[in-house]
Amino acid sequence: MLEKGQEIVVLRDVLIPGGRVADITISNGQVMHTGAAGKGDLEISCREKFVLPAGTDLHVHMRDGPQKAKETWESGTKSAIAGGVTVVVDQPNTIPPLTTSDLIRDRVMLAESQAYTRFAINGGVTSDADLIGMWRAGIFAFGETFAGPSSYGEAVSSSVLRYTMEQVAGWDGLMTIHAEQVTEGPDRTLADHDHLRSVSGEVRAIQDVLTMNTHGCNLHFCHLSSADAIRAIPGGGASREVTPHHLFLSYELFDPEDAQGKVNPPLRSEKVRRELFSCWDQIDIIGSDHAPHTRAEKGKEFEHAPSGIPGVETMIPLLMGRVLEKKVSIADVIAKTSFRPSEILGITKAGFSPGDRADFAIYPDTLTRISADNLHSAAGWSPYEGMTAVFPEKTILGGTVVFDSGEFFKPDLSEDYSGIRLWIQGRGYSL
Ligand code: NCD
Repeated sequence: MLEKGQEIVVLRDVLIPGGRVADITISNGQVMHTGAAGKGDLEISCREKFVLPAGTDLHVHMRDGPQKAKETWESGTKSAIAGGVTVVVDQPNTIPPLTTSDLIRDRVMLAESQAYTRFAINGGVTSDADLIGMWRAGIFAFGETFAGPSSYGEAVSSSVLRYTMEQVAGWDGLMTIHAEQVTEGPDRTLADHDHLRSVSGEVRAIQDVLTMNTHGCNLHFCHLSSADAIRAIPGGGASREVTPHHLFLSYELFDPEDAQGKVNPPLRSEKVRRELFSCWDQIDIIGSDHAPHTRAEKGKEFEHAPSGIPGVETMIPLLMGRVLEKKVSIADVIAKTSFRPSEILGITKAGFSPGDRADFAIYPDTLTRISADNLHSAAGWSPYEGMTAVFPEKTILGGTVVFDSGEFFKPDLSEDYSGIRLWIQGRGYSL
């Protein structure tokens, strides 16, 4: 009898970008063969479906702990797999912030007990963070590093930024940067928010970080909100992340005082949003910056409402909607949501070739309308309500179906998923 995990799974009639139709044979968490397949223990027909290597989202805030009402590892990772994402990178602006090796170890244990996805953990950058301790405890990257204040994250000083970049460069690690400069003033509407956290401030913050990086630390810029910000980063110099909300939403779509559109960096005008979309080819990765807050918190007076938008579940479905409308190519969606982020994370890519990680999501070729009632984040609301998208029918992690038509199946940690635990350890990990 076959061991669990050694079962043969066959995805039949997969349309591989480029035009070839082939069967994909999976065993032991990996793609074994692409071409005509024999009989599998489990067979999944993919005729007239879109089969995508599953997403790797380098920017999610899983919250939990005292912020369970916003999200837990269980609700957040269910939301991810229901949106075709099987790898998430958690951000450290939790309560308390993740700044020590013990807190990182606790975070890994908490995540491992609940997660429906693979995951990596980032370490926080503050003046008293134990950088080397967290690196050895297995964090993926340092950040997001707040070069501007945001929800539960104070801006770090130039001297802390400089010092951290020097240290991290010495370990050949990665720093992820939240680049903003903030002007004081009344913050009562979405237009105010855009004005106080301006595009020019975003560009200056990027330039300052690049100038301070005299030791050549590897940098990843989070959630760039404008074409000017994209252009401020030399190609190949650092990776450039853009969120679905900056691509698909402008503040004009909301009532002026509706804090559901409040996020950092802010939603921009429709003109700036369009210019950002026109930089599509220069965007390295799409990351959700999934930043769940409850509906009640977002219903507060604008000035007092927290910033952040939930989006891990709608990220690839919104992009797939644009694929169906022929506005973006499926190859680009795969590159920006799966291949490139997996490469940055340093894990085997999910894909169609022998040896690839067998993480897939299978999509129908029909548009549906987004409704928060059908989403799984504890946040319970979505700024994309009513917009069209294509949601996956099935999500596969290491050859095992973990989501099927609204039903979830928890990954079994006793199995070997492509030789790695659900936890993806950073390169500095030492026992
Ligand atoms: C994020 C959050 O709520 O954690 N909020 C946001 O507006 N993007 C923090 C952050 O990523 O800046």
